[in-house]
Amino acid sequence: MRAFLRRQGLLGPGEHAELTPLTGGVSSDLWKVDLPAGTVCVKGALAQLKVAHEWLAPVSRNRVEYDWLRFAAPLCPGQVPRGIVHDGEAGLFAMEFLPPERYPVWKAQLLDGQVDVAAAREVGDLVGRLHSASAADQHSALRFATDGNFDALRIEPFLRVTAGAHPDLRERFAELARRTASTHLAVVHGDVSPKNILLGPDGPVLLDAECAWFGDPAFDIAFCLNHLLIKSIKLPGLAAELRAAAQALADAHARHIDWEPPDAFGERVAALLPALALARVDGTSPVEYLDTAQRHEVRKAGRLLLADPAPAVDQLLDRWAMAGALA
Ligand SMILES: Nc1ncnc2c1ncn2[C@@H]1O[C@H](COP(=O)(O)OP(=O)(O)O)[C@@H](O)[C@H]1O
Ligand SMILES: [Mg+2]
Repeated sequence: MRAFLRRQGLLGPGEHAELTPLTGGVSSDLWKVDLPAGTVCVKGALAQLKVAHEWLAPVSRNRVEYDWLRFAAPLCPGQVPRGIVHDGEAGLFAMEFLPPERYPVWKAQLLDGQVDVAAAREVGDLVGRLHSASAADQHSALRFATDGNFDALRIEPFLRVTAGAHPDLRERFAELARRTASTHLAVVHGDVSPKNILLGPDGPVLLDAECAWFGDPAFDIAFCLNHLLIKSIKLPGLAAELRAAAQALADAHARHIDWEPPDAFGERVAALLPALALARVDGTSPVEYLDTAQRHEVRKAGRLLLADPAPAVDQLLDRWAMAGALA
């Protein structure tokens, strides 16, 4: 770390850096680094992720994340941390440090019972802007031709591993894996989860683009809506608010869909979401905050909607609410 800081000119001769590890992630080492010139955040990718099952992932994703920060910065100023420098030799990059007092994590707010529908709308808008700006862009397609990473980090652990726990639905999972992996339309963030979103003074800030991939943008919306819907099972008293947040996010995103018919996009979101829901109970990276009965509820709703997919996001949200009420 100190060699990296010196090589990149962040730490001068005789100067001192104070390192504080940051917690909260599973796939990286992160530090708050106090330097004489100011504070930065330094991130390096781990080869073995900190989850219960063995989950190995290419460390080249550290470079991919930095490339994504550079890609996103001009499109949404203030809504991604400013990238400072990447160092391939150290496998580290430095970015702007966003102090937690001013940038609370959205997940913590949600689990604390604060459902901010306006924030959800802003997240949908932010993700939509990024998708639309990169759609059909040859340069982005080449820069984020990271199919191998995306397979290792998303298709395999979320779709193929989860299929093993649901042998009767194996063909549905396989179809979704094939379709998702072979759709190349826009730059996908790949981890749009409330734990990777900070609610800053200038709107939501998106972190953690290790999975960035020129692929299927429906993945991002299915992924994020899934997080909100699973939280409605944890917090049934807030199910209506969470549903409104999910709807606001999807609607705000949909206003940016100019690369394909919006119905085709919505159909893929609705088809993929139940598989991702099952992945959060029976896949490689299970959700930590549900009890056994709640996991069963997610499994039930996920299986129903995977076997008989909703044709669009609105119907998906209706049917998720109904499955919850019946459980
Ligand atoms: N630029 C930053 N400034 C301040 N805190 C950050 C920054 N980037 C990440 N963090 C904190 O570290 C946590 C983990 O970061 P993240 O990039 O999501 O790593 P991982 O890939 O391990 O999930 C975040 O939830 C956030 O709390
Ligand atoms: Mg993260």
